[in-house]
Amino acid sequence: MFESLEIIPQDPILSLMGEFLADQNPNKVDLGVGVYKTEDGQTPVLASVKTAEQYRWQNEASKSYIGGPGNIEFNQLMRVLALGAEHPALAQNRVASIQAPGGCGSLRLGAELINRIEPGKTIWMSKPTWANHVPLFGEAGLSIAEYPYYDRENCAVRFAQMCQTLEQQAKAGDVVLLHACCHNPCGADLNNEQWQTLAELCKAKGLVPFLDMAYQGFGSGLAEDTFGVRTMAATVDEMFVAISCSKNFGLYRERIGLLMVIAADSHGAEASGSQLINLARGIWSMPPAHGAALVATILSSDELRQQWQGEVKEMRDRINGLRSQAVAKLNKACGGADFSFIEKEFGMFSFLGIGPEQVQRLKQEFGIYMVNSSRINVAGLNAGNMDYFAESVAKVL
Ligand code: LMR
Repeated sequence: MFESLEIIPQDPILSLMGEFLADQNPNKVDLGVGVYKTEDGQTPVLASVKTAEQYRWQNEASKSYIGGPGNIEFNQLMRVLALGAEHPALAQNRVASIQAPGGCGSLRLGAELINRIEPGKTIWMSKPTWANHVPLFGEAGLSIAEYPYYDRENCAVRFAQMCQTLEQQAKAGDVVLLHACCHNPCGADLNNEQWQTLAELCKAKGLVPFLDMAYQGFGSGLAEDTFGVRTMAATVDEMFVAISCSKNFGLYRERIGLLMVIAADSHGAEASGSQLINLARGIWSMPPAHGAALVATILSSDELRQQWQGEVKEMRDRINGLRSQAVAKLNKACGGADFSFIEKEFGMFSFLGIGPEQVQRLKQEFGIYMVNSSRINVAGLNAGNMDYFAESVAKVL
């Protein structure tokens, strides 16, 4: 039965990981896959996570299933982390959620629910967006449309064109996928005023926002980064939020995330919640326990939560510091070129703004790895490789 199958290339981000590992160049620099790295290039387990793991090891009493929606405490704490404790939708029982394997599992489950409601429904995605958004939604059966987002010439968000496209081309009931903060791949985020305008537009046109929040805390702060989610939730009646704990809890390989649905009323929320459990039962049946237990332990303990908040701030501050250093080094090394936009962007990623041939040369001649679009993971830079990186970029320019 397998003879007819074609061999297909790996996802570009995943294949870059493999290529980097195999590279023998002692100066190699990994600016590819989006994982946080410390000054010495490690992606360590957070101290708050280590403590939570110790607690879990001592206290876990059973390995029995945890049930369809996943860890209930995790669900409740994550809803509040995203929406704030006072959000009226919580008190009105308009929120349903389910634990899912990472941000991807959450996105895919949302896609499946949308397709169950209306097969082939249109979802609007930013141009550009994270490459994996396309199969996550497309393979669930949704039709993908694009709105303009990043202006590569001016390194800025094309907000007017984005609104115009949604205003003129999207129809009531269409879903709009939005990066809640720290846009992947461009790092250019909407400001608060733009979020407000967009929320009004979605409300007026009856569009359903689907926010992907994979980097909460990596932009301006844990609460600040929810501005888009909270503004949308305060404005529209129905929306989705997919949340990943991979980056801000450093739980990448534990695959832990949450899909939240906000419905117009409590019936809509209850029905959505039941459908999500039913969909998940047909895919992974019941979710794994470990990641959710760690997040719940951290968020429910004042001490651990504080420690975790400090760790998120440390990661954010380091990335922002690297952004400033990269601008200074690149501007100096590449006399005449202006990279100052990198400092104005948020989260782990920015486009360097170079072409695919230059990206290939950086990989082949210098062992510097980034996605073909010239997306760099800023967190992969450090004092040891910053000069080499800037000088190598200057050489290929
Ligand atoms: C990335 O964009 O590099 C990360 O979100 C990891 C991934 O799965 O692609």
